[in-house]
Amino acid sequence: MALVTSTEMFKKAYDGGYAIGAFNVNNMEIVQGITEACREEKAPVILQVSKGARAYANHTYLVKLVEAAVIECPEIPIVLHLDHGPDFETCKSCIDGGFTSVMIDASSKPFAENIEITKKVVEYAHDHGVVVEAELGTLAGIEDDVKVAAHAASYTRPEEVEEFVAKTGCDSLAIAIGTSHGAYKFTAAQCTRNEKGILVPPPLRFDVLEEVSKRLPGFPIVLHGSSSVPQNYVKMINENGGKMPDAVGIPEEQLRHAAELSVCKINIDSDLRLAMTGTVRQFFNEHPDKFDPREYLKPARANIKELVRHKLVDVLGCAGKA
Ligand code: G3H
Ligand code: 13P
Ligand code: ZN
Repeated sequence: MALVTSTEMFKKAYDGGYAIGAFNVNNMEIVQGITEACREEKAPVILQVSKGARAYANHTYLVKLVEAAVIECPEIPIVLHLDHGPDFETCKSCIDGGFTSVMIDASSKPFAENIEITKKVVEYAHDHGVVVEAELGTLAGIEDDVKVAAHAASYTRPEEVEEFVAKTGCDSLAIAIGTSHGAYKFTAAQCTRNEKGILVPPPLRFDVLEEVSKRLPGFPIVLHGSSSVPQNYVKMINENGGKMPDAVGIPEEQLRHAAELSVCKINIDSDLRLAMTGTVRQFFNEHPDKFDPREYLKPARANIKELVRHKLVDVLGCAGKA
C-alpha cells in the first residue's frame, strides 16, 4: 500500500470509537520501532515529522525512511504528516515533497489571522490531494523552539470552532483541553499527589471536547501533548544518571475515553523519547565498556516497539483496525 491520507482512517476511527496514533519520527530506529508494532498489531498509523526533525535528519532522509516502512509494512495504511507546520512555506515544501498530510499551526495568531493562513494552506494542499490539520487554542509546553508557559495557554473556545472550520475548510482540528507538550506537563502546584507520592494532574476538560463535538458532528478532533510520561521510564532514567524530577503526563484512561469520543488522532512523542533515553542510559550503566551504537540502539528500538504496542492496544484502541 502506498502512503495514504488520513481521510478514510479518521472516518473509521470516528465511527468505531478509537483513535489513530500519531508518533513523531526523527531517525531509523524510531521509524522501525513504531511501524513494527503497528504491523504486528495490524494498526493504521500516522508518522509525523516536525520542523525540528527536518532540521535534524533532513527532509529527504525522513521521507525515504518512511517510504521504506511502507515497503516493509504493506498491510497497514501509513500517513506521512507534518507536525506543527509554522508557516505556508514549510507546509508547501512538505506537500511538494511527498507528505500526505500537513498541520498548519497558527494557533498563536489572532483568530482572523489563523483563519487566513490556514485557508491558504488548505487551498494549496487540497489542490495537491493532501489533507490539513489546523489548531484552535494554545497548549502549554515546548514544541520546537516555541515555549508556551502554563499561564499563557488557553482552552479552545467552542463557540469559535464552526466558523473556523467553515471558513478554512480544514480536515481535522487540534484543540486545547488541558494536554501539554513535553515531559513536564504540569507544575507540582497544578497537581495533587497520590498515596505513592506521584503527581496527579488536573483532569482534561471533557466538557470542552463535548461542546466542540456537538458543534462539529462527525468532524475529527486531534489531541496534541498526549504523552503519559510512563513512570517506569522516568525511574529508569533517574536510576541511571538522569535527573527528571516530577515529570508527569496525561493519564492513559483519559486518553482512552477521548478516543471513544470524537478524538481521532492522538499525538505521542515524549513517551518514545523517554523509552529510548532510559534504555540507552541503563545500557551504558550496565555496560560501561561497550561502544557499538547497534548494541545500545537495539534494545532502545525494542522498547519503543513495546511501548507503541501498548498504546495501540490499551490506549488508542486501533489494534486490528488496519
Ligand atoms: O509537539 C512537538 C513534538 O513533540 C515534536 O518535538 O519539535 O522537538 O521535534 P520537536
Ligand atoms: P508529547 O510531548 O506529549 O508527546 O506531545 C507530542 C505532540 O503533541 C507532537 O505534536
Ligand atoms: Zn504537538
